Amino acid sequence: MKRKMILDCDTGHDDAIALMVASKHPNIDLLGVTVVAGNQTLPKTLKNTLNVCDHLGLDVPVYAGMSLPLVRKQYVADDVHGESGLDGPVFGPCNKKAEDKHAVLYLIETLMNSDGDITLVPVGPLTNIAMAIRLEPRIVDKIQEIVLMGGAINLGNATPAAEFNIYADPEAAQIVFSSGVKITMMGLDLTNTVLANMQIIERMEALGNKAGKLFGDIMRFTFKSQAVNGLEAGPVHDVTAVTYLIAPEIYKTKDMFVEVDTNIYGPSYGRTLCDFNNRYHKKANATIGLSLDLDAFWNIVEDTLRKHN
Ligand code: RIB
Ligand code: CA
Repeated sequence: MKRKMILDCDTGHDDAIALMVASKHPNIDLLGVTVVAGNQTLPKTLKNTLNVCDHLGLDVPVYAGMSLPLVRKQYVADDVHGESGLDGPVFGPCNKKAEDKHAVLYLIETLMNSDGDITLVPVGPLTNIAMAIRLEPRIVDKIQEIVLMGGAINLGNATPAAEFNIYADPEAAQIVFSSGVKITMMGLDLTNTVLANMQIIERMEALGNKAGKLFGDIMRFTFKSQAVNGLEAGPVHDVTAVTYLIAPEIYKTKDMFVEVDTNIYGPSYGRTLCDFNNRYHKKANATIGLSLDLDAFWNIVEDTLRKHN
């Protein structure tokens, strides 16, 4: 039985890889892609998303969403993703256009017309998801699950306390984490172990197709830029949220209470406070990824990229 999902992204290097996996894995029915400002401004994240779809011939509708966070001023990750948000690969003319409908309205209409069997996979700031929940609260009971990339039990990457996707819109994240929807969170503690080192890059390029070449062009760029986070290579953070839908058995997880620090003046603004030892004795509102089988993960990625042109 295919798992119906909507990918919400801020393309972004690892977002692009997540799109490449979600669009071709036989266990996934990718209904649509919604785009949000994050790694770069919305025009750039939208252009990057359309370029990847057009380049690989992905016939999936793409919707432009929120261009600014709910409260804080815009914060982009150009130090990691570059001026375009997807520096590295070079694309030809793009023939794919975004749908006319706003992403938030697409999310609401699709969820309200569904049987409650759609998983949302946000891998950027949670602005689109939070806006949809606020505009139509009834979607909370129609979302099967939210499997997101974001947050961290321990160190952040945007600040010592906060991971980028949460830090870019903490208020949106708190709306999502307190919504009551079933949430699975792939945070940095897990995603920083999924590094596209040169061996992985060359393994995917050896596929000899456009997807393998694009994987190499994308991840060779972040191979260098991720040094800002003290990593030896670029982590494919966002892909871990997609592969969780494909093979949850390769993950170790723990349920716990999570809340987002929305004190805009504090040093931990945007931190996902994860109650690992249940000190608050509050009901867990999230399942958090602790680790995964890296061999199994890269086999899934390789096998799925092989299915592309
Ligand atoms: O912190 C990693 C996250 O921030 C990933 O989603 C990456 O694409 C950036 O958006
Ligand atoms: Ca992202």
